[in-house]
Amino acid sequence: RPGAQAWVPEEPDLDLMRAAVQGCRGCELWREATQAVFGEGAPAARLILVGEQPGDREDLEGEPFVGPAGRVLAQALVAAGIDRADVYVTNAVKHFRFEERGKRRIHRRPDAGHITACRPWLEAEVAAVDPDVVVCLGATAARAVLGRFVKIGAERGTPIESGGRTTVVSIHPSAVLRLRDSGERSEAIAGLAADLRLAAQVAR
Ligand code: URA
Ligand code: SF4
Repeated sequence: RPGAQAWVPEEPDLDLMRAAVQGCRGCELWREATQAVFGEGAPAARLILVGEQPGDREDLEGEPFVGPAGRVLAQALVAAGIDRADVYVTNAVKHFRFEERGKRRIHRRPDAGHITACRPWLEAEVAAVDPDVVVCLGATAARAVLGRFVKIGAERGTPIESGGRTTVVSIHPSAVLRLRDSGERSEAIAGLAADLRLAAQVAR
């Protein structure tokens, strides 16, 4: 795995990056995926939200957080009073990693090597957007952004200063989808919304 660096444009231009990422061969995940899914949103957003990797819907549509996890995220943003058009949304890894089971494509977590290989894209996006706060949705995003293992339950609720940036960590929206009980789901969405609100407060 050579890593993505050689494919990342020198210029901090999101449109150039969005075009160039389709040619990335920084790791093997491009082979099975439909397309790379780059970040979307306000190019000068104060908040950048980082997920794990595109899911099945995202892989097909080419946009981040447009499937079930995206609906959860949308609900949490509404609850936090944040307009999705004002934020920039992306993922730690740009190609979908999955396992075929019959006709279904089952999400597989990217491993540390994929996160490292893809990190130049995330770094370039963060540098171009230059947000006040980076919000990590789940442990994979937190690992990509902070470069270490993060226990979300222990570190959420307090902004983390690292490398000249402020980071807020929260759960991954998919974690909400795994909960059976509707009360637990609402509680988890409220928790995600509280973390997003905290990020928005720190940003202003
Ligand atoms: N999960 C993610 O982490 N990102 C997406 O874009 C969709 C689902
Ligand atoms: Fe490149 Fe990232 Fe896709 Fe790997 S996952 S090929 S590093 S864009």
